[in-house]
Amino acid sequence: MKTIIIVASARKNGNTNTVALELAELANCDIFNLSDYNILPFDYDYQNQEDDFIPLITQLIEEYELLIFATPVYWYAMSGVLKNFFDRFTDLITVHKELGRKLKGKHCAVVTSSAGDHLEDQFWIPFQKTTNYLNINFKGGIHTHPEKDRNVILKSFWKKIQIHSAKLPKI
Ligand SMILES: Cc1cc2nc3c(=O)[nH]c(=O)nc-3n(C[C@H](O)[C@H](O)[C@H](O)COP(=O)(O)O)c2cc1C
Repeated sequence: MKTIIIVASARKNGNTNTVALELAELANCDIFNLSDYNILPFDYDYQNQEDDFIPLITQLIEEYELLIFATPVYWYAMSGVLKNFFDRFTDLITVHKELGRKLKGKHCAVVTSSAGDHLEDQFWIPFQKTTNYLNINFKGGIHTHPEKDRNVILKSFWKKIQIHSAKLPKI
């Protein structure tokens, strides 16, 4: 299963990017950073269609089966960068329905970075509900701390994602 990690932080080379690079190395998968793209907020009038969202999501849909979102925790929630990206999924159920239907059967997971020790269950609800709505299989999320050794938890997370995903590379 071809996998991409999508980094969605306000800091291009911050803690979230570090975790994403660690996971990409052990999972031997691709990685890209939303800060390299111009993605405008959702617009009810769709005056934003010349930005990078549609080309980018088209590439993701065509090339990858598992999308891993890497987000810092900002004020108990996903980053604004990632929320902005998620809001644009609305394009895929309105003006780009044909493309949106291709999300069905994709897989998704989330890795976070925050200063806190753990995340409450409620943190994961937007991911569970959004993926469920879009017919994407949510394979779970893992919280990491910038100052703690992440090797063991990232490895076990990657193993967990592989359950029922025979085509993912083994570590
Ligand atoms: C705007 C902002 C809000 C934050 N809110 C939280 C929070 O609610 N809970 C928490 O544990 N850490 C919070 N933090 C700390 C970050 O989650 C943590 O430092 C993270 O590793 C930053 O990743 P980054 O370098 O990719 O931005 C916040 C940091 C910022 C800048």
